[in-house]
Amino acid sequence: MSIWNKHERIEKNATLLMVLSLVVVSIGGLVEIAPLFYLENTIEKVQGMRPYTPLELAGRQIYIREGCYNCHSQMVRPMRDEVERYGHFSLAAESMYDHPFQWGSKRTGPDLARLGGRYSDEWHVDHMRDPRAVVPESVMPTYAFLENTPLDFAHIADDLKANRLVGVPYTDEQIENAVMDVKSQANPDGDDADFDAVLERYGENVQGRAFDGDPSDVTELDAMIAYLQMLGTLVDFSTYEPATDHNLR
Ligand code: HEC
Repeated sequence: MSIWNKHERIEKNATLLMVLSLVVVSIGGLVEIAPLFYLENTIEKVQGMRPYTPLELAGRQIYIREGCYNCHSQMVRPMRDEVERYGHFSLAAESMYDHPFQWGSKRTGPDLARLGGRYSDEWHVDHMRDPRAVVPESVMPTYAFLENTPLDFAHIADDLKANRLVGVPYTDEQIENAVMDVKSQANPDGDDADFDAVLERYGENVQGRAFDGDPSDVTELDAMIAYLQMLGTLVDFSTYEPATDHNLR
């Protein structure tokens, strides 16, 4: 009797077929799923990623509040046309500190994932005041009020704490100094500013200046432009190497 005849016995016995199928599927499931429980993180670590500074985080919250994600994505897909237009495709690590993420699903306007450094602060100020002043055919709404609205950052330390609860590695020191760090980043030359301390806490790739051009107060526009100017700038793609079998831990 050949092996094929033996298999016929299984095929003709529904219960046996079911039991053996279950065994086979379970082995497959275990092999695929069990290792995930032993991995601390399924996101590949990438050099340069850091949590948002308090000012950038405040800007990000205004971005969410104003619903910018309804018209803008923040996710460059690995397709040739997208990579040529926007730059290197997005890495998982680049949104590892985003709660909630802003990938978006609609592009009435362009993708913003690699926006940082593409335009000057002045361009952003003009564009937010009146998009049609710089892009005549634009259908983007005006956000002129951001410039006249003082940033409310009294509770920014709580925002950092909430982010820590969901896994962003903010330190006690970063939380304690959050209010001070907002001021120092938006006006590094101010009397009580200590921008060096911000760099020490968050790393060298933090930009500090009066983003809306007016150092006299911290406005919502300061926070928004601080956020827009850092988007996609943390990972240095001239030195970035994707994980391969060789350099993976
Ligand atoms: C109704 C849709 C809509 C909304 C809402 C919207 N935008 Fe736009 N946005 C556009 C369009 C269309 C463009 C392209 C024309 C232009 O530059 O104004 C654009 C362009 C931009 C650009 C320039 C991007 C580039 O690479 O040229 C930035 C920056 C931007 N928007 C930021 C924002 C921010 C921040 C918000 C929320 C406060 C926002 N947008 C809300 C439609 C929108």
